[in-house]
Amino acid sequence: MLVEKNVALQPFNTFHIVARAHALARIGSEADALELLADPEWGAVPKFVLGGGSNVVFTGDVKPLVLKVEIKGRSLVSETAKAFIVEAGAGEVWHDFVAWTLAQGYPGLENMALIPGTVGASPVQNIGAYGVELQDRFESLDAMDLRSGQVFTLNAAQCAFGYRDSVFKHGGKTQVGAHQVMGLKDRALILRVRFALPKAWKSVLGYADIDKKMAEGACTQPTPQQIFDWVCAIRRAKLPDPAVIGNAGSFFKNPTVSPEQCADIIARDPKVVHYHLSDGAIKLAAGWLIDSCGWKGKSVGQAGVYEKQALVLVNRGAGSDGNGATGGEVMTLAKAIQTSVYERFGILLEPEPLVL
Ligand code: EPU
Repeated sequence: MLVEKNVALQPFNTFHIVARAHALARIGSEADALELLADPEWGAVPKFVLGGGSNVVFTGDVKPLVLKVEIKGRSLVSETAKAFIVEAGAGEVWHDFVAWTLAQGYPGLENMALIPGTVGASPVQNIGAYGVELQDRFESLDAMDLRSGQVFTLNAAQCAFGYRDSVFKHGGKTQVGAHQVMGLKDRALILRVRFALPKAWKSVLGYADIDKKMAEGACTQPTPQQIFDWVCAIRRAKLPDPAVIGNAGSFFKNPTVSPEQCADIIARDPKVVHYHLSDGAIKLAAGWLIDSCGWKGKSVGQAGVYEKQALVLVNRGAGSDGNGATGGEVMTLAKAIQTSVYERFGILLEPEPLVL
């Protein structure tokens, strides 16, 4: 097992923030992870699990041992009457996996095409887009306890999925959505994830951007491939490609408010974009709130607010030469945005990525 020292993390985070890991181990298999845990020097030290680096902001060098997950593999593992059960290694690139499932004839993930990151990070964040969340297609996952080396399996209920949330984002005894759980943050290394892809596939529509594509193509019954292509086109048009402009996708979660709070905001700002949830609460579009405070295109140092989508913060100076925004600049910008949205709407936006 090779542990590399003083490793540049800029190529391993989609924000392209300059930071270094004091030490980094590449985990290509379950055996690699076991070997690391048995190592007298590295077995017991604090660890940080890094997937595709698409949901993390480094604000300095990383002291815990970074585990860079590179576990590959994708296959159909079983079938039930209702679903194909497809498994992927945690280190598979999410979008490539989505494309592969479609090519194999197992649709169901197409609305989540082009989300950056890896398969292993997808349950941590309960990723979602255009009306489908990971939890809607999740079957189970295998993970390793980073203290004991024991491998365990979790079903959806045990993952305690919430909006961009799961048991993997919390430590200690914690409330995740409706559940009281023991958090698994920095405790579990996700090895493999299984998805239940419905044999009776039905399109998930109803998003304005997708409806527009349907109308343009005079299409009423889209195929999974058409939805995949539309989602890719929509995302490419309004979200920056991390390979070109460093970013971590949506920087803030869409906040949920009570009907009373929403009525109060509408009274002041009738155009506020909001959606009614099934539990009576109301979700506000954080992008709209930020946009209406005038943030689009603004910058702090080399950290900026993306011109086409105010919910996305970008690294204006990213490159492979070590230049670009620091994590400190990104967080200064994020805090300034939080303050102005709070002052105008009384809502504290919550960052979506992990700030390390
Ligand atoms: N809006 C503005 N100005 C902006 C940005 C958005 O007015 O600068 C308005 C839009 O016009 C729209 C509304 O806000 O009416 C919502 O915008 P959009 O449809 O782009 O979706 P979002 O709420 O900003 C969420 C997810 C995205 C996901 C899209 C599509 C979160 C935090 N973000 O964004 O996920 O792709 O819906 O489902 O839930 C991600 O998590 O990284 C991500 C990109």
